[in-house]
Amino acid sequence: MEAILLVGGLGTRLRPLTDRVPKPLLPVAGTPFIAHQVARLAAAGVDHVVLATSYRAEAFAAGLGDGSALGVDLEYVSEAEPLGTGGAVRNAASRLRAAAEDAVLVANGDILDGHDVRAQLELHATHRADVTLYLTRVEDPRAYGCVPTDASGRVTAFMEKTPDPPTSQVNAGCYVFRRAALEEIPPGRVVSVERETFPGMLAAGRHVLGYVDDAYWLDLGTPAAYVRGSTDLVLGRVDSPARPGPAGEALVLPGAQVSPDAVVSGGTTVGPAAVVHAGARVEGSVLLDGAVVGEGSTVRRSVLGREAALGAGCDLDDAVLGDGARVGERNELCRGVRVWTDAVIPAGGVRFSGG
Ligand code: GTP
Repeated sequence: MEAILLVGGLGTRLRPLTDRVPKPLLPVAGTPFIAHQVARLAAAGVDHVVLATSYRAEAFAAGLGDGSALGVDLEYVSEAEPLGTGGAVRNAASRLRAAAEDAVLVANGDILDGHDVRAQLELHATHRADVTLYLTRVEDPRAYGCVPTDASGRVTAFMEKTPDPPTSQVNAGCYVFRRAALEEIPPGRVVSVERETFPGMLAAGRHVLGYVDDAYWLDLGTPAAYVRGSTDLVLGRVDSPARPGPAGEALVLPGAQVSPDAVVSGGTTVGPAAVVHAGARVEGSVLLDGAVVGEGSTVRRSVLGREAALGAGCDLDDAVLGDGARVGERNELCRGVRVWTDAVIPAGGVRFSGG
């Protein structure tokens, strides 16, 4: 079984965390996010994965190697200019080994989910569909690709980010293509599967099927979702074969130092060489490699980037410190504030609010 993973996006909504590291390589529960996805696919029988890279392409092979540690044969293709989701799939197709009628999985590289991949593949094979889309149901479908289906499960429309969605079913970002259908995407130009390929296939009367699965599903595109995905993995609300260790209140990675007087909870990850000083409380957060939380500081639902340093007596709630950022003592950062990579905020008891 083969899969193409789309990992070439710029990850702009996650800036500044994606300034130096592409979104799919950001650590989630201590492991590059894409490794969780590859491990899940391997558990479902996938043995050959092609990563469609573009932004910071060189970082992927350096971080993941040949895939043997994850149980797959991993290959990389790169687009000189990003070709969009469809163009990237078409560009990666040259590396596939499948025959024309075989099934190929295609997945966005930023979705954390627990859906039954084998069941999706089986449905696709039973109905001999051209493409079978994994659909999930969300409370507010307006921000997603809304995908209504008829009684037989056939997709009847594909409506990207519509203000008046007719159903709560949305595109969950994992597709099974018949290889021959995938090769019909025009090569060498920008194509969006969501805006062009799927609507085009429907207009041409192709067999587009929906596979609805209400398992855990999260798009890790924003800082709040990134933090939630990481804490949910640590707490065991969603499982991954690549989680380093059993589920629990906190994941403290080798080389990290947490003072016996500090409290680390709510699914927090403390990355390698990160330090949490005495009296600090860190709840539901992500501390990347080498980050420092000063004495008596409180950190909630926040991310400290690599080597970011938070001074003593600070209060962080729903905030992001970019790699190398330094926040001096007694500051308060809340409601979506982002401190840019290597930026410095002097000590001083100031309240920074993003809302
Ligand atoms: P934002 O800039 O924050 O919207 O994030 P993004 O760039 O990752 O875009 P989006 O979340 O819409 O992308 C969905 C998935 O497709 C992600 O896994 C991206 O890495 C991937 N992707 C998006 N555009 C491209 C592209 O042009 N080429 C490749 N190879 N992958 C892409």
